[in-house]
Amino acid sequence: MSFDRTIKIAPSILSADFANFGAEIQAIEAQGADWVHVDVMDGHFVPNLTFGPPALKAFRPHVKTVMDVHLMIAPVDPYIDAYAEAGADILTAHLEAGPHIHRTLQAIRGAGMKAGVALNPGTPADAVAHLLDLTDLICVMTVNPGFGGQKFLDMTAKIARLRAMIGDRPVHIEIDGGVDPNTAPQVVAAGADVLVAGSAVFRGGSVSDPAPYGTNIRAIRDAAQGALQAA
Ligand code: DX5
Ligand code: ZN
Repeated sequence: MSFDRTIKIAPSILSADFANFGAEIQAIEAQGADWVHVDVMDGHFVPNLTFGPPALKAFRPHVKTVMDVHLMIAPVDPYIDAYAEAGADILTAHLEAGPHIHRTLQAIRGAGMKAGVALNPGTPADAVAHLLDLTDLICVMTVNPGFGGQKFLDMTAKIARLRAMIGDRPVHIEIDGGVDPNTAPQVVAAGADVLVAGSAVFRGGSVSDPAPYGTNIRAIRDAAQGALQAA
């Protein structure tokens, strides 16, 4: 995985048909997805449950781009090797998931993956000030994690602060929650380069009618790129 700051759209398969993950992943990639975002929830760190390492291992052969795994679990460290074996390219842990995020990020890189750190809406940008050289991606949550389809929370000031803190470091800023063509421009203008979107990608389409996925992905990308050109 080489680093660049071009806009990347990462559909969240939390909004996919749970009986059809392989076909859904193939469909979103064929329709222009840059990465595939996989939301792992434990019913403890967040009030919802999704899937774990065996499911991800089954998704992996279908993912031709990047498997971007967002852990909403606590604790994280006992499971890092299992997610490496399942084939995660990027493994993101929440800063709020435990007292030793520094160790967690080291362990993720040690297991051969890119290391991401996610920030809940209430967590300030400065919480990652001493982690910038240990991380490959900072995920700014623009909803409280746990569910798709929630209302976007404005984190523009946090994103801009992170972008300034990152400087020339090869660290992605990913936005997760409520991203659609209306909200994408402001987060990209503030410095984000990876846009996760669940409901705004999957709405209106299906594996038997995947063209709306492409229309939706293009609408988000065009809105985001428009904001960059205007800047
Ligand atoms: C929320 C998840 C998101 C979610 C986004 O906890 O981390 O990835 O799927 O869904 P939308 O785009 O519908 O807000
Ligand atoms: Zn997510």
